[in-house]
Amino acid sequence: MASITIRNLDDEVKDLLRRLAAENDRSMEEQARIMIRAAVDGQAPPTGRLDQIERALHDLTSLHGSTTPAIATAARISARGTLSGKRILLIIGGGIAAYKALDLIRRLRERGASVRVVMTPAAQEFVTTLSVGALSADHVFTDLFDRNDEHDVGHIRLSREADLLVVAPATADLMAKLANGHANDLASTVLIATDKPVLMAPAMNPRMWSHPATRRNRATLGKDGITFVGPARGEMAESNEAGEGRMAEPLAIVATVEALLDAGPKPLAGRKIVVTSGPTHEPIDPVRYIANRSSGKQGHAIAAALARLGADVRLVTGPVAIADPAGVKTTHVERAQEMRDAVEQLLPADAAVFVAAVADWRTENSAGEKIKKVAGEGPPVLRMVENPDILAGVGHHRQRPGLVVGFAAETQDLMRNAEAKLRKKGADLIVANDVSHESGIGPSGVMGGDRNRVRIVSKAGVEEWPEMTKDEVAARLAALIAERLKTIVV
Ligand code: CTP
Repeated sequence: MASITIRNLDDEVKDLLRRLAAENDRSMEEQARIMIRAAVDGQAPPTGRLDQIERALHDLTSLHGSTTPAIATAARISARGTLSGKRILLIIGGGIAAYKALDLIRRLRERGASVRVVMTPAAQEFVTTLSVGALSADHVFTDLFDRNDEHDVGHIRLSREADLLVVAPATADLMAKLANGHANDLASTVLIATDKPVLMAPAMNPRMWSHPATRRNRATLGKDGITFVGPARGEMAESNEAGEGRMAEPLAIVATVEALLDAGPKPLAGRKIVVTSGPTHEPIDPVRYIANRSSGKQGHAIAAALARLGADVRLVTGPVAIADPAGVKTTHVERAQEMRDAVEQLLPADAAVFVAAVADWRTENSAGEKIKKVAGEGPPVLRMVENPDILAGVGHHRQRPGLVVGFAAETQDLMRNAEAKLRKKGADLIVANDVSHESGIGPSGVMGGDRNRVRIVSKAGVEEWPEMTKDEVAARLAALIAERLKTIVV
């Protein structure tokens, strides 16, 4: 096996490696070895350090000639300069997570954004204006009634001279103020005076996050067009407290900023990708139908993630309660046959991703009128016939896209079933997920919930991904698709 000479790495990678090694109390050689092992095993690096690790990994593993495609692409996608020329107004609320805002400023600036900061009085109890000012290289705004600040910039200009407002950490109080239209300090006034998009990264104790008042405010702000990132699940700063309420990691916030500002590289530009999502509804009569528990969250997230990488995404979705993803051309269907027709009309395409939970059967003849109860006749007998398998149809189509990705939702024998589906349906990749209750995912499980744990099955083998949000699965799958399509010439 080749050996790595740390001295030969470029300065940036060396620097990152040194920092990571110091944080983990390891030697640089040991840190490098662990990261390469993780890459070879296809493991995700620990959350929060993705950017450094992926970039370092990319360089390190290219020395070894061995790298996981998704990680390598993600590394390229996290390239610098993606926010160049963008102006961010960061509002730091008062919470222990305020210290992460320092890292956030650095991350935004290293991507070329200019960052102006407003700090609430409570935020100043956690981090100083001095350190924030040093990192942002700008004056830090703290007071609505500061004569100098108002004279120099003024809260209206402050709120408008930005491309995006980011609130991190967004405390329960800041959320409540904006949801109810308060404007009694600089942060709330700026938020209400702006005509620019607002991104909130909530951080609070899990009980505060789950309180009905916070839930109400979150829903109101969502309806008002505020975008949210997080909070994540995990340990709280207080001992013995865990749950949902941790602020999203700075890199996750940066990724959302890039998405909102439509920044970032577009490795899928010029590629047409068809995605199916949601359940299908198979009618029994005009008022009744057969359906399943699919929410469309994973399929819609994949469509959005592919669009963010520049693909021309055509989403065909069954009936769902969520909004059409931004920047995606969406066709709404009800039945499996309609979904099949819509998909086939969209061919040719460079890739197709089949996430929909298509009903396997439909009633042979749905009744034209509502079926009535007739005394003495008992319940109707429904004769079912098989629906077309849309994935298998496209997998063996004469206009088969260069890359065909299917899903395998299983409650038992996950791997055996996934491998069988790969072969039978003519797919290149199967994303296998355990939808049984035993999967242990989330209070509501994979179907309908926000989290997922998948394995990527291909002819080359199986890659296991750790449990993550459906958005994270989507981003990673989109990176993997971009990597695969690179080798497929149009
Ligand atoms: N699929 C499809 N059309 C169907 C059934 C499934 O396109 N009529 C696709 C799904 O979108 C998914 C994959 O096939 O990508 C596997 O779906 P799944 O429900 O797991 O498998 P089935 O083929 O329905 O087999 P079974 O229900 O027996 O597990």
